[in-house]
Amino acid sequence: MEKLIDLISQQVSAAFEAAGYDGALGRVIVSQRPDLCEYQCNGAMPGAKQYHQAPMVIAEAVTEKLRENTAFLSVEAVKPGFINLRLSPEALSDYVNQMAETEKFGLQGEPTPKTVVIDYGGANVAKPLHVGHIRPAIIGEAVKRIERYMGNRVIGDVHLGDWGLQMGLIIEGIRDRNPDLPYFDPAFDGEYPAEPPFTISELEGIYPAASARSKEDPAFSARAHAATLKLQQGDPGYMAIWRHVMNVSVADLKKNYENLNVEFDLWKGESDAEPYISDMVQYLKDGGYAVESQGALVVEVQEPEDKKEVPPCIILKSDGATLYATTDLATLVQREQDYHPDKVLYVVDKRQALHFEQVFRTAKKSKIVPPETELQFLGFGTMNGKDGKPFKTRDGGVMRLEYLISEITDTVKARILENNIITGDAVDEIAGVIAVAALKYGDLSNLATKDYAFDMDRFSAFEGNTGPYILYTIVRVKSILSKYAGQQGGFPADLRILPPENRIEKELMLQLSRFADNLQLAYRDTQPNVLCAYIYDLAGALNRFYHETRVLTEPDAEKQKGYIALITLGKRVLETCIDLLGFSAPEKM
Ligand code: ARG
Repeated sequence: MEKLIDLISQQVSAAFEAAGYDGALGRVIVSQRPDLCEYQCNGAMPGAKQYHQAPMVIAEAVTEKLRENTAFLSVEAVKPGFINLRLSPEALSDYVNQMAETEKFGLQGEPTPKTVVIDYGGANVAKPLHVGHIRPAIIGEAVKRIERYMGNRVIGDVHLGDWGLQMGLIIEGIRDRNPDLPYFDPAFDGEYPAEPPFTISELEGIYPAASARSKEDPAFSARAHAATLKLQQGDPGYMAIWRHVMNVSVADLKKNYENLNVEFDLWKGESDAEPYISDMVQYLKDGGYAVESQGALVVEVQEPEDKKEVPPCIILKSDGATLYATTDLATLVQREQDYHPDKVLYVVDKRQALHFEQVFRTAKKSKIVPPETELQFLGFGTMNGKDGKPFKTRDGGVMRLEYLISEITDTVKARILENNIITGDAVDEIAGVIAVAALKYGDLSNLATKDYAFDMDRFSAFEGNTGPYILYTIVRVKSILSKYAGQQGGFPADLRILPPENRIEKELMLQLSRFADNLQLAYRDTQPNVLCAYIYDLAGALNRFYHETRVLTEPDAEKQKGYIALITLGKRVLETCIDLLGFSAPEKM
C-alpha cells in the first residue's frame, strides 16, 4: 500500500498542476498545528518565488481545486500561504481497514531485498556477560528484526571474542592451579579428557584472577601472551582447553541471551577467522597492500583529506601474532565467501570507531570486499548509572547482566504484587516478561549513539514513556477484547472500522496510518528509537480512546463492532512493533 501521506501529497500535487503550478510543490507534511489541521502543505511559499505571485494567491487557487475532493473534510488557505487539510472520516477509515486486511499492514518493504550480515552481541568467551554487552545485544536484535521485516535476507552473527589474550590468560591460570593436567605435557599423545577441568563458576573466577595478576606480574603476562600465540598456532593441548572453555561458556551465554529474547543465526567467533588468516596475509603482501613497519605487517590507511591521524591497520605483530583487526578482516573474507553480503553492519561500542575505520579502509583498499559492499558501523554509547558514570554494582564492581536482570525483575514484581491482579506462580513469569520490556525499551528509546542513564525506577514504571506502559496498553485491549468475545460468544466475522466520530477516535486512526512511515524511517536511519517514539504516541492514542469510549457498554451493535475492529488493529500494530523491538506482552499484568 502507498503511505497515506503520499496519497494525500498526490492529491495536492494534482491540484497544484490543475491550478497551473509545478506539482512538486504539493508535498504535504504532518501538521505542526494539530489543533488546526491534520496535514499541511507549505508549497505555496517556494511557489511564490518561482511564479512571482503572493503565496496566498497560489494557496487559494490550489485550495479551490481541492474543495470538491471527497478525500478531505476541509481544505483551507491560511496566511501567509499554508494549505491546511483535514481528512474525510470515510477516507481515513477506508485506509485503516485496508491496512488491517493487508499483510504487514500494507508496508512497502525494501524494493530490492539485500543480504545483510549483522555483527552484534560480541560477548567474550570465559568472561561473565556484563552490562557492557547489554546494548549490542538489545540494539542489534532490534535492528536485525527491522531489517528482516523490511524484506532483507539477514544473518545475525554473535561474533564471540574467543581468540584473544583472555584465552592465554585462562590457559596460564589453569596451569597454575593444576600444572599436572595432560594439556600441558608436550609428550602426551593420548586422548584428552572429555570432561572440562573446571565448572562455569570456576571459569568465571579464573579469568578475573589471571587478568589482575598479569597487570602486576610481568612474567605471568609474558606467559599469557606466549600461550595465546601458541593457541593461535594450533597447539593440541591448548586447543583442547580452548574447546572446554568454549563448551562451558557458550552454553551459559546462550542461556543469558535467551533470557533477553536475543537469537543469533550464527554462533561464530574470532577463532573461526583463523583458517582464512594465512591466505589473507599472503594476498595482502602479494598485492602490495601490506608493508613491513618496525617488524610488524601493516596496511597504511591514512588519506590526504583526513583531518586527524588514522594510524596504519596492524595485521601481524612482530612475533607473528594476530590482532583484533586481523580477525575482523579475515572474518570479512569469510563472510564474503559465504554470503556475498550487500551490507555488513557492526553494532559495537562507539569507542571502537577508530578500529572499524581502519578495518573498513583496509578491506576496501585491498578489495577484500567489493567496492559496492556497504560497511556500516553503528557505534553505541555507554549505559551509565544515575550518577552519570558507567553502570556499576552497589559496591562498585562490574555489574553482571544476570544480576541486572534479576534486580529489575524484582522491582517489577513488587509493582505487580501492589496491583494485586496476578497471584501465584504466574507472578514470576510475568515479572520476567515485563522486566525484559522495561530494560529493552529503556535502552532502545534513546538514540543508540548517545550515552544514557539506566534508571531502574523510571524504566520499570507502568506509566510514562516506558516499556511496561506499552505492555499495559496492550494488556488492557486484550482484556476488553476477551470480555467482548465472552459477551458475544466470539468475534463476528464482519468487523470493520467505521468512520471516526470524534477527534480522539480520528487521532487513533491517524496514528495507525503512520505505521509504515515510522518503520521505514527506523530502517533507513538504523534507529529503533524512532519505532519507540511511534508506539509511545500510538499507545497514548489507544489509551485515550478506550478511556473516552464505552466500548463494552455501547448499545449500538454496529458501532461497537467498529470500536472492536479499531482496538484490535491498535493491538496488532503495537504487538508487531514490540516484537520488532525484541520483547512481548503478557496476558495480564
Ligand atoms: N568482543 C568485542 C568486545 O567485547 C566486541 C566484538 C565486536 N565485533 C567485531 N566484529 N569486532 O569489545
